[in-house]
Amino acid sequence: MQDTRPIRELIACQKPGWSLEQRFYTDPDIYRLELDRIVMRNWMLAGHCSELAAPGDFKVIRVANESAIIVRGQDNRIRAFANVCRHRGSLVCLEASGNTRKFICPYHAWVFNTEGELVGTRDMPEDFRREAFGLHPVSFDVVHGLMFVCFSDDPPSLAAARRDLAEPMAMFDFEHLKVAAAKTYPIAANWKLSVENYQECYHCAPAHPEYAKMHTLMLDGNKLERVQENMKNKTEACGLKDIYFDFTDTEAPQGEQGYGYSRTAMFEGYQTGSKDGQPVAPLLGKLRDFDGGASDFTIGPFSFLLAYSDHVVAYVFTPLEQAHCQCRIYWLVRGDAEEGRDYDREQLMWLWDITTLADEKIIVDNWKGIRSRYYRPGPFSGMERAEQRWIDWILGELRRAPQTQ
Ligand code: FES
Ligand SMILES: [Fe+2]
Repeated sequence: MQDTRPIRELIACQKPGWSLEQRFYTDPDIYRLELDRIVMRNWMLAGHCSELAAPGDFKVIRVANESAIIVRGQDNRIRAFANVCRHRGSLVCLEASGNTRKFICPYHAWVFNTEGELVGTRDMPEDFRREAFGLHPVSFDVVHGLMFVCFSDDPPSLAAARRDLAEPMAMFDFEHLKVAAAKTYPIAANWKLSVENYQECYHCAPAHPEYAKMHTLMLDGNKLERVQENMKNKTEACGLKDIYFDFTDTEAPQGEQGYGYSRTAMFEGYQTGSKDGQPVAPLLGKLRDFDGGASDFTIGPFSFLLAYSDHVVAYVFTPLEQAHCQCRIYWLVRGDAEEGRDYDREQLMWLWDITTLADEKIIVDNWKGIRSRYYRPGPFSGMERAEQRWIDWILGELRRAPQTQ
């Protein structure tokens, strides 16, 4: 029988510590509510400033029904605009990235400059005022070199994240990283499943033999503590500080975007996330040596970064449609590293390319099962705590929506 309970009731009935009811993944009304309350109201990673090094450099990102142009203006400032023409609404920029002095709408050729102003039209009435038809700005901010956008004029504050992440990000010199490679993985599943999957390592041992050989997240408490101790003995000599904080999701301070930082030891013999555990790029920042660890950064509900000692992998999960989402991955190395001399793109991408392709498969299979009439929520394991908390946060946001009052 079809579940017709109002969303409010569905949220209230959700069993704590169990996976979500089917309708949270399949109900179009809930998807619309999520876009409104969650996806469009929180910051998401849009890359690194070094991608837009020169005036006129631009890139386009797509999230659900939104498309944004991020562009460095002639005044050297980076801004984001809705990729929606102020004439009759066509997408203005159809390229994914490039360099330009102006954006010419492909429909009737209105012309916008890199500051978003309308600078060219034809055959418009005499009283037409171009200055009233600039591209709509999209909220844009930079956190230690990382670009973030939010499709709301009233986004959460990034001040606490910027302040507390300053020290750990400085260790790896985030400001001066550069994108050595980037790849988008389309995933035919509801977007929440891809974020949930990223946040738990219960699946790591069965699904990721390569990852499980080097990363220790699936170890039980005591074993993990022992490898952590080994790493911590080396931390300071390598130029790293022992820092930990967790203000993600439900722990975020009022009005602030959630954020967190931790460092976890890898297995003995692994200096970084590479095939043989050997370095794949020069040490980041002022690091003096490899401590055999990898740092997890979280900023907001969609963006996660993993900092090895020689490279950073950044992940951002966003919906395209209810049943389709994508994972965009950036591989970052120190800004002065040269391809061919200091790193090889294939070696750099190896681990997280195969791991993400394996994730895509298990997420899609999960989605297929969730749509079955036999699907029922199941209980979380102890290794799915972060995912559980993220779900609690999602439910809290949906509960606060005026539509569910
Ligand atoms: S829609 Fe862009 S010029 Fe007409
Ligand atoms: Fe995975």
